[in-house]
Amino acid sequence: MQDQYILKLENITKTYPGVVALNDVSLDIKRGEVHALVGENGAGKSTLIKTCSGAIEPDSGNIIINGKSFKKMTPKLSESNGIAVIYQEFNLVDGLSVAENIFLGKALRRNAICIDRKSMEEKAAEIFKSLDIKINPRTNVRNLTVGYQQLVEIAKAVSENAQILIMDEPSAPLTNAETGKLFEMVDKLKASGVTIIYISHRLDEIFRLSDRITIMRDGNKIETVETKKTDVEYLVTSMVGRKLTETYPHRDTPVKDEVLLEAKGLCGNGLRNISFKVRRGEVLGFAGLIGAGRTELAELIFGAATREKGEIFFKGKPVAPRTPQQAIDAGIALVPEDRKRQGALLDIDIKGNISMAILRRISHFFVVNKQRENRIAEDYKNSIKIKTPNLLQKIKNLSGGNQQKVIIAKWLATEPELIILDEPTRGIDVGAKHEIYKLINELVESGKTILMISSEMEELMGMSDRIIVLAEGSITGEIARSDFNQELIMSYASKTEKEKAA
Ligand SMILES: Nc1ncnc2c1ncn2[C@@H]1O[C@H](COP(=O)(O)OP(=O)(O)OP(=O)(O)O)[C@@H](O)[C@H]1O
Ligand SMILES: [Mg+2]
Repeated sequence: MQDQYILKLENITKTYPGVVALNDVSLDIKRGEVHALVGENGAGKSTLIKTCSGAIEPDSGNIIINGKSFKKMTPKLSESNGIAVIYQEFNLVDGLSVAENIFLGKALRRNAICIDRKSMEEKAAEIFKSLDIKINPRTNVRNLTVGYQQLVEIAKAVSENAQILIMDEPSAPLTNAETGKLFEMVDKLKASGVTIIYISHRLDEIFRLSDRITIMRDGNKIETVETKKTDVEYLVTSMVGRKLTETYPHRDTPVKDEVLLEAKGLCGNGLRNISFKVRRGEVLGFAGLIGAGRTELAELIFGAATREKGEIFFKGKPVAPRTPQQAIDAGIALVPEDRKRQGALLDIDIKGNISMAILRRISHFFVVNKQRENRIAEDYKNSIKIKTPNLLQKIKNLSGGNQQKVIIAKWLATEPELIILDEPTRGIDVGAKHEIYKLINELVESGKTILMISSEMEELMGMSDRIIVLAEGSITGEIARSDFNQELIMSYASKTEKEKAA
């Protein structure tokens, strides 16, 4: 008879210098279940699944797949035993096409020498079709946005016919609409008998998808609960170790009359005729689907993309940032969505990342004032609670959420007046999200202005004073706080050119 448990982890321990990432963790995964893993940033979730996939070797413990016990897992063994992983950090190869990425390492061949590109593309197209995803298999993944890259990752795992599919924050780069697609896919895979381990900081997803939930804290497994028998409040308390009140902290500083930034008829970078104003002390939200142009707009304002037409006024004067440095000098900062590509230098330590954009300010005759650099980094570490043994830790060794906090700190250190936050809480745990919301309120109260792009509708409605909706590179709607509602935003977000003209 087949074991009820398809995967068992026994007494897994993994330590890094100064960090116990996993402390004697044991876990049973039932055949055919969707098993969720939750816990704060740095709790050990990704480390745990990396031991299953053979990406890292635990110090001690056993991994048992289908009754077979492994002391040491390797990526090959893991794959041949039916495990596929969608990692939190993307694994796509930049220079290759979508189809090539899906069949990486197992390219379909016409004969011993020739790779059969055509059937790879056809097969990829088939997978996309079955998942109802619109991506051209010939596109180079370099040209895809993070959201689309994630869909390719998922298609890749599906193509492997895995028995156990591990997804580490699969929805993080997706918007609501695409997340719906992801859910359908999880349902489909589950119905076809695949066991799924699902990591997410979005608790609504956990409740929608999972059968059981394992809660981790500080490298320890706290407990496994049946989803039906628990609720959000219990989960949060168990995860964070304390009770959290009010999700979106109240802000009562009124928006000032002064228009801080005005965009007039901006074109370029895929955008058409974008005009809007943002006032000092305002949090202006931007909603839209993947590809709507929100990140592209941020890049235009930040001087990271070429403006073809239109004007930007900042504090009443025309500004024309042609490079990010010019934008920074003017008082504009951008916390980018894709931390791996642009936000953080993974091989550099935390301190170096935080001070990177302000080296000129803290230097005297090209010599960096080390004391000042340290103090600034230390201040941010404490105020936004970056979890690390010390500031000399390389970014790549931090958990996903803590990497994001370092990037936010880096841009705050430039002391900007206008801060563009592109998906600021992607991959961030409930406790830390709350800290970031409080930070946004503090920034606004101290006279700063925020443009906030987010695919989490709840968060956007919870934090913004006003929301602008983009679709296909144009503004399709603007909503005042008193009129916020999810349906209205969605209806603007899915408005097409034709409908707008009509
Ligand atoms: N290569 C490494 N070197 C040093 N420390 C590491 C390394 N990899 C992970 N860690 C540490 O191990 C701990 C667990 O990290 P892990 O990435 O598993 O957290 P997580 O639960 O996945 O968090 P998140 O929700 O932010 O993704 C963290 O404190 C992290 O900094
Ligand atoms: Mg992780």
